[in-house]
Formats: sequence, C-alpha cells, structure tokens
Amino acid sequence: MREFIYYSENARTSGNFDVNNLMKAGRLDIACQIIIMGFFVSHHMRDDVKLHMIFNGPPNSPVHIEMFPGENKQFADIKGQIDISKKDIAGLIKKMLYKVKKGERKEVAPGYSVEKKNFVNLVEEMINDGKKIYILDRKGKDIRNLEDDEIENSVFIIGDQDGIPKSELKKLKKLGVEKISVGKQMYFASQTMTIIQNEMDRREFE
Ligand SMILES: C[S@@+](CC[C@H](N)C(=O)[O-])C[C@H]1O[C@@H](n2cnc3c(N)ncnc32)[C@H](O)[C@@H]1O
Repeated sequence: MREFIYYSENARTSGNFDVNNLMKAGRLDIACQIIIMGFFVSHHMRDDVKLHMIFNGPPNSPVHIEMFPGENKQFADIKGQIDISKKDIAGLIKKMLYKVKKGERKEVAPGYSVEKKNFVNLVEEMINDGKKIYILDRKGKDIRNLEDDEIENSVFIIGDQDGIPKSELKKLKKLGVEKISVGKQMYFASQTMTIIQNEMDRREFE
C-alpha cells in the first residue's frame, strides 16, 4: 500500500467555507489537488493509496482526515466510472469537516474518516505500528538512491505551499523521520505527489 500525509498549517478546519473560493479557506484548493493526484490516474482510481490530511487552520485545529477509497467494498463497482471534479472533492472535505467531534473518530463513509488528532501524534502512532516515514524535502536524500525495500509500504509526508513548520520538523527529526527528495527543483505539493506515485509505479509496487 502507498500511504501519504499531507500537512497544511492553515487549511480550514470547519465545513463552513465557500467551495467556490477554496484559496480563501486556507488553500483547500491545494488539498483538492493532492486528493486528485493521490487517487486518480487516467481512466481509473488507485485502490492501493491511503491519504491522511492534517489541517491546522482555524477554527477547530488540529483535524486528521483519512481517505482510503480502496477499503470501500463497493469500490470495485465504482472505479472506472467516476467522473469527479475538484468541486465534488471540496464538497467531500466540507462534509467530513462538519462531522468532526472531539474524542470521536467519525466514519463519514466506508474508507473516509475524520477525527481531532495532531500531526506528531499521527506520525508517532505510525512509527509504533512499524511504518517507515519520510518527509519530502528538496534537500533530502534522492529517492532514486533508495532501495525498493527502503520505500515499499512507507509513509510519505508532503507539505503545503508553506512547507512543514520548523517546530514540527524538529519534533519529526527527534522521532527519526528522514528527508527524501525528488530532485533539486521546488515542485507544487501535488506535483510532488505525482512524482512519488510515478516512482512507485515504475518500481511496480502494488
Ligand atoms: C510548494 S512546496 C513548499 C514550498 C515551501 N515554501 C518550502 O520551502 O517548503 C510543497 C511541498 O512539496 C514538497 N516538495 C516540493 N519540491 C520537492 C522536491 N524537489 N523534493 C521533495 N519534496 C518536494 C515538499 O514536501 C514541500 O513542502
């Protein structure tokens, strides 16, 4: 399985935003692009991807959204037939944010859940589950120099337009999370997602 965490310091944490003005909602437009690049390829959806999103903006941070459409038992019937637009995805985020409740993990639909959890706690839990975690960073180790078994079934953290705040990076460093790079160019978050997916596709991970 391919697993990603998208971190956004300013993404809105309540459903009361305008789907026609996602930039104003703490750049939820970028979160939507990440979802598209995470799950969609031409003519079908990826069923082996789990995406976590940490939103840290107002008014109810932190929020952890988890999306694993491949877990949905009806997935086999719907994949290949979905005509999804960015606006549909914003509507899904909106619906999920309206369900956030303190102390509860809410399943909004099979494979889609939401809860109040912070970034470092999520990463710590994954490490305790034995997962290898990498932060995507231009100055990290080149992903092409990593062996297949070093990145297979790993978790990749991608920052938003402002990157990961220094305070969070310090905590991740203490947890032993390493930086990896997809090249010297600074890419959009969603482009970084596509490049990792391509790298994994070419290594033929299923
Ligand atoms: C638009 S960039 C963030 C730019 C931000 N000003 C910064 O300095 O981090 C969005 C995210 O994409 C990822 N990214 C962009 N270019 C990358 C590269 N060449 N290698 C690895 N990750 C990259 C990083 O995770 C980054 O946080």
